[in-house]
Amino acid sequence: MAAIQIQDVEKMYRGKVHALRGVSLEVMDGEIFGLLGPNGAGKSTLVKILMTVIHASSVTGTMLGSPIGHRKTLESVGYLPEHHRFPYYLTGKQVLHHYGALCKITRNERKASASSLLTRLGLSGWENKKVHSYSKGMLQRLGIAQALMNNPKLLILDEPTDGVDPVGRREIRDLLAELRDEGRAVFLNSHLLSELEMVCDRVAIMVKGLVTMQGTIDSLTKDSRRYEIQIQGNVPEWATDSCDEVHGDKMIVHGDDPDAIQPLLDRLRNEQITIRAVKPVRENLEDLFMRAVDYTDTPGAVQ
Ligand SMILES: Nc1ncnc2c1ncn2[C@@H]1O[C@H](COP(=O)(O)OP(=O)(O)OP(=O)(O)O)[C@@H](O)[C@H]1O
Ligand SMILES: [Mg+2]
Repeated sequence: MAAIQIQDVEKMYRGKVHALRGVSLEVMDGEIFGLLGPNGAGKSTLVKILMTVIHASSVTGTMLGSPIGHRKTLESVGYLPEHHRFPYYLTGKQVLHHYGALCKITRNERKASASSLLTRLGLSGWENKKVHSYSKGMLQRLGIAQALMNNPKLLILDEPTDGVDPVGRREIRDLLAELRDEGRAVFLNSHLLSELEMVCDRVAIMVKGLVTMQGTIDSLTKDSRRYEIQIQGNVPEWATDSCDEVHGDKMIVHGDDPDAIQPLLDRLRNEQITIRAVKPVRENLEDLFMRAVDYTDTPGAVQ
């Protein structure tokens, strides 16, 4: 089942900013889905619409099987807003109790969840310290703990690793994978591309209020796979017919079938030509992202 399934979401802010221009996407149960896009693409706008923080100009679709905006369903969703601020005079533990109480969780359950989440997020020892003494990364971890207080089936995280150091980011990535393995769906926004690449099952790329690409990173980069064969000296005349592109001492063969390049390698060897490198190459998320940004320069381009 789809944890989130939305079609043609439009948002026009009153200041006449057309922030979302017909966004459709699907997040499946038990997957980590990454929404990426440059600043101002509309990522947080979409998240706020899903959480009913703001209203869409138009939206159709479902979240956990109920229409978007269904109040009761939101009780099963954990939310980490962008730039969240906790009351600075509360301790970490009090913050979790406060949010737990807002979710109508009983005192005993709150106590158990707060202490296990503080440990899980690496904040043990800090539970009784006021949040004004927390570092940016610690506040972010506390924010994730807060989003987990209601034991959600779906987590919506807006920039979960914002301000977190590399070790902390890795811990958060591992935690997200664990949460997915527990059967929860995770929908997260980020512009940390290499990080999304490591953790997401599927991604959507949003640019200027449009989703321009959506799918697994594998499927989105499939057409870009190629072998680069580098030799000593210039590529001989005969070899140009056996490959798709030639650049100086490099031959490019499109596709990812290793058998396809064996005859070429055999002949190079027979001709006593030194093979310096054979490299399978595919686009990474950053290349995809750059392609997506170019793509939307064509007006009305949606895929
Ligand atoms: N309350 C508002 N009123 C008017 N325009 C807004 C409002 N909030 C956001 N916008 C505009 O809507 C567009 C999308 O903003 P949004 O915050 O959703 O982008 P984002 O993808 O989350 O960016 P970032 O990566 O910087 O967080 C931007 O042009 C922004 O200026
Ligand atoms: Mg944002």
